[in-house]
Amino acid sequence: MSQTHYFQILLILYLSFPIILTSSSSSSSTPQLLHRGFSLSPHSKTTSFQPFLTDPTANFSLGFLRQNHNHLVLAIIHVASSQPFWLANPTHIASWSDTTHVSFNGSLVLSDPTTNLFWSTATNGGDTLLLLNTSNLVIVNQNSGTHLWQSFDIPTNTLVQNQNFTTTMSLFSPNGLYSLGLGNNFMGLYVNHVVKSGKPLKRLMYWKRTALEAKAEIEEGKGPIYARVNIAGYLGMYQTSSTPVDVQKFNTFQQTSSFLMLRLEPDGNLRGYYWTGFSWVVNYEAIIETCDLPSPCGSYGLCDGSGCECLDNRTRFEPGGCFGSNNDNDDDDDLCSSRESYFVLRRSGVEPPNKELLGYLTTSSLEECEGLCEKNCSCWGALYNNGTGFCYVLDYPVQTMVRTGDGSKVGYFKMRKSEEGKNPVQVKIVVVIVVIVLVAVSVIIGGIGIWMMRLKRRKGVNGILKDENGASSGPYKNLESTSFRSIEMCNGQ
Ligand SMILES: *[C@@H]1O[C@H](CO)[C@@H](O)[C@H](O)[C@H]1NC(C)=O
Ligand SMILES: *[C@@H]1O[C@H](CO)[C@@H](O)[C@H](O)[C@H]1NC(C)=O
Ligand SMILES: *[C@@H]1O[C@H](CO)[C@@H](O)[C@H](O)[C@H]1NC(C)=O
Ligand SMILES: *[C@@H]1O[C@H](CO)[C@@H](O)[C@H](O)[C@H]1NC(C)=O
Ligand SMILES: *[C@@H]1O[C@H](CO)[C@@H](O)[C@H](O)[C@H]1NC(C)=O
Ligand SMILES: *[C@@H]1O[C@H](CO)[C@@H](O)[C@H](O)[C@H]1NC(C)=O
Ligand SMILES: *[C@@H]1O[C@H](CO)[C@@H](O)[C@H](O)[C@H]1NC(C)=O
Repeated sequence: MSQTHYFQILLILYLSFPIILTSSSSSSSTPQLLHRGFSLSPHSKTTSFQPFLTDPTANFSLGFLRQNHNHLVLAIIHVASSQPFWLANPTHIASWSDTTHVSFNGSLVLSDPTTNLFWSTATNGGDTLLLLNTSNLVIVNQNSGTHLWQSFDIPTNTLVQNQNFTTTMSLFSPNGLYSLGLGNNFMGLYVNHVVKSGKPLKRLMYWKRTALEAKAEIEEGKGPIYARVNIAGYLGMYQTSSTPVDVQKFNTFQQTSSFLMLRLEPDGNLRGYYWTGFSWVVNYEAIIETCDLPSPCGSYGLCDGSGCECLDNRTRFEPGGCFGSNNDNDDDDDLCSSRESYFVLRRSGVEPPNKELLGYLTTSSLEECEGLCEKNCSCWGALYNNGTGFCYVLDYPVQTMVRTGDGSKVGYFKMRKSEEGKNPVQVKIVVVIVVIVLVAVSVIIGGIGIWMMRLKRRKGVNGILKDENGASSGPYKNLESTSFRSIEMCNGQ
């Protein structure tokens, strides 16, 4: 299975999150700690979540989370909202079956022989598994009192208040497309361009927050920075002292909120939430303008403040992008294999999103800029700014571009031939036209045939007209409703 397919599964999993809690409840019988020797398989009757460990407040539970009917993820959830805070096996899914089991023998182990899943904390010397009231799952050696392992060290897409996020960690959006990471003096959001197996992941930064160092400075040689959601209502970056080197305030800054979390979401935005006791409410967004998100209008889309269009002005925008969201070739990161061919699409008044974070070359003309891309099969597009001479070369598949009023900013984009052929709207319009023509021709031929037959039988003129109307109105009426249906179907996709 390719990485992309895992990501597609994850996206589906994510989309089904809100329904999971319908039948889950952390019963009072759920233990607060587990010892060596514990072993459990999922019950076939559980519809959503099967807890087997809870924290002292009963706000959080560790258990089997059922997804997509038959998939199993080992998860820590926030019980009241059913939101998963942490997943042990986000990319390698187990199946919900008797043969899948979790055990604790010093290591916490999840294994499923049918899908070859084997996930383990690989800890030795642990004797107790505990879920703390922070939602942190820890493996403890009670004799020495040491924490051998904690789930806080391998976050999924969520950071809870007071959870340390270090330079060796990443948050991944549930669809696997985006990640959050820390640099030496900044935090950044990245697009992870999935490329052919064997090649390294390409990361492209689309948002950057550099530490302002207002109250404390980053000192060289004093170690890496880390980030943490502070309960005073901000996302802080820290180095050595408890005084932050940077503060990104939430809307609830300096108000007491019951619980805060930060989450990297499927659209690539980083959002903060507080728990009201009933629901999660957004109190922070890293990216405020929709067009600054990495791909708000999908591939070959065009974003302006009011909505989405397609870069190709002959194509109507549909949710999921301008060429359908499922491209069989999307594992390929370039057009270098010999069977690949492409069309060129040009559009003026466009620029790349977050261009201040992109590298560029300076060329003396538009032709020179386009030439850099045309000759290079790992290039997907080039955008030229005639005012500055900046040439942005895109060495990854074209995502959403941003509209600008400045017509001297011109985009050159390569489009796979298969992608143009696949445009569902165009294909359906052609089908509808062919059907209309065929039906019209058969109606005319049929009409002429009937007329000739009636003429032969020497019937009255009035009768012929009447019958003709009756015969023709039927098919036309049906045709109208058929073509209408196919257009509706296009819209719905
Ligand atoms: C725990 O179980 C796993 C899986 O069966 C095994 O690989 C590991 O060696 C065991 N660890 C200990 C400490 O027994
Ligand atoms: C969580 O546990 C710590 C110590 O383990 C305790 O000091 C704190 O009051 C607890 N918080 C809540 C909300 O129960
Ligand atoms: C987070 O880091 C701070 C400073 O290094 C440390 O004191 C604290 O114990 C850490 N918290 C957790 C949950 O690891
Ligand atoms: C934890 O439980 C307490 C007591 O039931 C509740 O007031 C609080 O809102 C809960 N916190 C979360 C994050 O669910
Ligand atoms: C579409 O773009 C082409 C090339 O930029 C332009 O010539 C044409 O007028 C545009 N058509 C519409 C309907 O805007
Ligand atoms: C083609 O583009 C890639 C990515 O921008 C670049 O690394 C490579 O050097 C280019 N090759 C040539 C021959 O210009
Ligand atoms: C680009 O800039 C040059 C001079 O810098 C100017 O002559 C030319 O008309 C400009 N082209 C467009 C399309 O704006």
